[in-house]
Amino acid sequence: SSLNLQELNEFDGSQEQKQALKELGKEFEITTDKLRSIVKQFTFEMQKGLERHGAKVAMIPSFVTGKPTGMESGTYLAIDLGGTNLRVCKVDLLGNGKVEIQQQKYIVPEAMKVGEMRQLCDFIADSVDMFLTEIDTDSYSETLQLGFTFSFPVNLRTINRGNLMQWTKGYCCTGAIGKDPGLMLQDSFRRKNMKVNVAAIVNDTVGTLMAHAYRDPTTFMGIIFGTGTNAAYFEKMDNITKWEDDITSDEMVVNMEWGAFDEERRVLPMTIYDNRLDRESINPGTHIYEKMISGMYLGEIVRNMTLGLVDQLLLFNGKSSPELNKKWSFETSHMSAIEIDTSSDLADTQYVLETVLGIPSTTLLDREMVKTLCRLVGIRAARLSAAGVAAVMTHCNLLPQDACTAAVDGSVFEFYPHFSHNMMKALKELFGEDVEQKIKFSQSHDGSGLGAAVIAMQVSKGNS
Ligand code: GLC
Repeated sequence: SSLNLQELNEFDGSQEQKQALKELGKEFEITTDKLRSIVKQFTFEMQKGLERHGAKVAMIPSFVTGKPTGMESGTYLAIDLGGTNLRVCKVDLLGNGKVEIQQQKYIVPEAMKVGEMRQLCDFIADSVDMFLTEIDTDSYSETLQLGFTFSFPVNLRTINRGNLMQWTKGYCCTGAIGKDPGLMLQDSFRRKNMKVNVAAIVNDTVGTLMAHAYRDPTTFMGIIFGTGTNAAYFEKMDNITKWEDDITSDEMVVNMEWGAFDEERRVLPMTIYDNRLDRESINPGTHIYEKMISGMYLGEIVRNMTLGLVDQLLLFNGKSSPELNKKWSFETSHMSAIEIDTSSDLADTQYVLETVLGIPSTTLLDREMVKTLCRLVGIRAARLSAAGVAAVMTHCNLLPQDACTAAVDGSVFEFYPHFSHNMMKALKELFGEDVEQKIKFSQSHDGSGLGAAVIAMQVSKGNS
């Protein structure tokens, strides 16, 4: 993190500009000590969530108990809602860890994300229907079992029934909170006379974990760093003290809903730029950890910082543009483009600022400043992410000799420059250099499709 300040010293702007960047550097810095106190609070909140219902970090039992063996077989449907698209898949589990997946993506219209839940479910059912018509319809003669990856906090009562606790990531359909998304989707299938059974409601983190575990038994954790962020891991039943039912298994996957970490604001160093974003979001005051880390939000933090400097007449000659003034116009993908831009004139940065965001003209100094803002936000996101991972590692008491794999999916992990490197750097500060041998992050692509199918299979074979 000291890297930022050093870089700022070399920056060639005016005294005021230097001063402003230095102050931002301080505000966005997460020192190793700070990391430690965040991890401490994190493990405390995890514990609280395991002990009682209604904690902020909800620690939701997923009802997924068995680890897959890779030998499972059969044909299952899987759908994935929660990111940018609706994904519909037909998954053929062939045994020996082999799978065949046919899939189709459908764009979820923005209006659908904020309309009525019943309509959203009808849209999903229609998309599944279209998909089934496109692929061979023979397999459609008997009821198909479907794993429903629904990447929002659902308090499960059984593997396929539960209540939506709240919306996140920009969704806010009416008639959904407190209702059962599994049942509502089943109703849509029924209204359309479709022979599809919602066999499981699956969080994307749980799906990612199970998909990876299907091939690699050392997988202990599934993480999403994408539009939102969250993690799931295998927990000992004995530790889930709030669990009241009988169960024979000694382990269960827990969906942490870690995006809600520190909603009481004890340790997260929120800046005015974060607060501004939070206020504009569909879920003010909640999921603030997610808002400092994930793809839906990072660009907006940078936009807020950029406008702050414009207002102080320290950037773009004090002039913004109509596009830059629009909420959410600065996308996280723009930050990625700026961060990987190493050309001497920062031509790609210039393209983003002038062509995409409509700033009439920028100087090299302007571009350097914006690039610094991106770096501050990107590094902070990676370090805060490491704190979550470190908390789970600490909680699970991972020993140095354990080889552990965390399956990771999401656009931030995959595409944001230096993200995993910066995360690992923070983990080294916390646990020492050899942490790299202890935990491996493995990009897991077909996560929610394959994972949801594996879970639907476990349910229909009665061994979850
Ligand atoms: C949000 C959702 C959570 C999901 C995560 C990643 O945090 O609440 O359920 O896992 O985004 O998609």
